[in-house]
Amino acid sequence: MKLSIALANTKPGTSKTTSSVMLAYALHGAGHDVLLADTDPAASALEWSDAIGGFPFDVIGLSAQNPGTKLSAYAGSDTVVIVDTPQAEDHGRTVRSILRVVDELVIPVAPSTIEVERTSAMAEVIGEAEENRERPVRTSLLLTRVVASARSGPEVREALHGAGYDVLTSEIPRWETYSMAYGAAPEKSALPPFEKLGNELLERAGAA
Ligand SMILES: Nc1ncnc2c1ncn2[C@@H]1O[C@H](COP(=O)(O)OP(=O)(O)O)[C@@H](O)[C@H]1O
Ligand SMILES: [Mg+2]
Repeated sequence: MKLSIALANTKPGTSKTTSSVMLAYALHGAGHDVLLADTDPAASALEWSDAIGGFPFDVIGLSAQNPGTKLSAYAGSDTVVIVDTPQAEDHGRTVRSILRVVDELVIPVAPSTIEVERTSAMAEVIGEAEENRERPVRTSLLLTRVVASARSGPEVREALHGAGYDVLTSEIPRWETYSMAYGAAPEKSALPPFEKLGNELLERAGAA
């Protein structure tokens, strides 16, 4: 595959599914061959796809014991694989299985003290997954649900940088269009922040 990107975090409700779907739409719109893999037993990405008669890119549900091994079928293809995951605190095994095989891990996090604190638990999940990989998984934080012109976004970004995290330059605003996105095709205005994110991730990976 050209690039594989997992969106994961310890907690539910951190925008893993919304970001996965929007990112898949943005990369598909930019002409990439995209596969969205839903590894959450709650299957919200799959149900979202069903609700609109199918996303315009490929979607698969990987609820097997070791979903990571299924992704190896795409090795050598030109596909960008995006993996939506369940919350790692309840589904550690699934998330570790994915983190053993993907190129990039993106951790979506809101600029709020509690959410940032909870995110630090991902280090353990990543560490366990890396026991079974040759190289560390490239990991970054994606600031999402960022309120325009509020101080939380820049302050949390700076604090995370200071703590040694790799914070993506792209960030996703807190917008109504995202809170109302589930179960519908995204509005055109929803995509630009994810187009920027897609470009940044491809560039990071040297796959642009
Ligand atoms: N950028 C955003 N702006 C506003 N609401 C958002 C944004 N991203 C996600 N949401 C909302 O937050 C909630 C959780 O998002 P979801 O993608 O389902 O999280 P997860 O998959 O991590 O459980 C949903 O109600 C969703 O609509
Ligand atoms: Mg989800």
